[in-house]
Amino acid sequence: MTVSTPRRAVLIAAVAALAASLAVGVTTAAQAATTLGASAAEKGRYFGTAVAANRLGDSAYTTILNREFNQITPENEMKTDATEPNQNQFSYGNADRIVAHARANGMQVRGHTLAWHAQQPRWMESLSGTALRNAMLNHVTQVATHFRGQIAWWDVVNEAFADGSSGARRDSNLQRTGNDWIEAAFRAARAADPNAQLCYNDYNTDNWTDAKTQGVYRMVQDFKQRGVPIDCVGFQSHFTGGSNYPSNYRTTLSSFAALGVDVHITELDIRNAPADAYRNVTNDCLAVPRCKGITVWGIRDSDSWRSGESPLLFNGSGQKKAAYDAVLAALNSGTTPPTSPPPGTTPPPAGNCTASATPGQVWGDRYNTSVTVSGGSNWSVVVTLTSPQRVSTTWNGTPSWDSSGTVMTMRANGSGNTFGFTTMTNGNSSARPQITSCTAS
Ligand code: G3I
Repeated sequence: MTVSTPRRAVLIAAVAALAASLAVGVTTAAQAATTLGASAAEKGRYFGTAVAANRLGDSAYTTILNREFNQITPENEMKTDATEPNQNQFSYGNADRIVAHARANGMQVRGHTLAWHAQQPRWMESLSGTALRNAMLNHVTQVATHFRGQIAWWDVVNEAFADGSSGARRDSNLQRTGNDWIEAAFRAARAADPNAQLCYNDYNTDNWTDAKTQGVYRMVQDFKQRGVPIDCVGFQSHFTGGSNYPSNYRTTLSSFAALGVDVHITELDIRNAPADAYRNVTNDCLAVPRCKGITVWGIRDSDSWRSGESPLLFNGSGQKKAAYDAVLAALNSGTTPPTSPPPGTTPPPAGNCTASATPGQVWGDRYNTSVTVSGGSNWSVVVTLTSPQRVSTTWNGTPSWDSSGTVMTMRANGSGNTFGFTTMTNGNSSARPQITSCTAS
């Protein structure tokens, strides 16, 4: 086909305009993320919060939850007193509600917790010896089996070390069943849910020189040497009351990571929420490649177990505090971890908004991905798969596919700015979806 000169001029002008708009789009795409979850995801991490089931009906609460966070830890609903109130009678209603909310919104779930000396139901408190050991193992097995495939990380054992200068285990009814109770719990959890990452979680383990930190370190080192299935260590990081943010916190995180485990900041709150301390914690996590993410212990100060200390990122009215701005800025200026593809191997997505993918739950034959969009509400995101992988399920968006079935265009459907999908590997378990464009109006 020949193109007449006037027509050619129009065509050239149209191509130039398209190139200019794409250039603008790419510039816009490089803008800083505007939510904690999206920004953390750009750095290969999550940003989560503790969630209470009885607050899921509060729309002010869920608005912030769904906008800012891509990971949830049930605050009380998976503890032993909640899930097994009577021996061998399990109760999952509130925990299931939280997991369903997380799945519907593409958030990862940290299970908290399978074995703990506190918040035990009466029947368990009254047991001892072999009967208690067997009841604990049965609890681990039943609960981890119930949630199999839905939990990214389990706090298998919580708070098993003593405070103070001993560096020893805490005395408890579980400890009195024998020193091997912790490794027995980890083995039972691995058998029940082989795809969940298994963590030990504790508080006052933030200062590298503290005896308690060293005690936990020696246990993890021993577990790794003997092949006990442990994948991660959680640092609760309640910087309130008796313990403050220590200047050697980064050393603590990196020293544990050097043992071959991931590290997580699992219950962060800081008395009066000083912006500096929140910034330091965020920077410390970003500086340690195996630090997978940060979970704050509640959304608004009024949701906190220590509401009188106003330790969180949002005030009681749901407004962002100075600490929020400090965390977001630190996340946005952090470097991408070395595990990401080197710059240039994946072209930057085209378009005028930003879409960040966060890896989700992985099963033998499929895996989840959640994508958070920032920069517009009426968006359309193009995701390209590597054949023979195919998407089997999506949520929080309206998908359409090209004829090959490997290019999915996901459009906003009013469910917010995070959508998700499950990809069947169909034999290719290494490829991961690429976001090729994000367009918003
Ligand atoms: O739901 C009942 C309510 O019906 C009742 O009227 C009221 C009366 O006290 O109690 C309510 O339950 C409380 C529950 O929180 C829900 O608010 C419990 O008494 C109270 O003990 C419980 O506290 C929780 C605490 O763990 C228990 O140990 C906090 O919410 C929770 O934030 C806190 O979380 C722990 C982590 O699991 C482990 N690390 C430390 C962290 C802070 O203590």
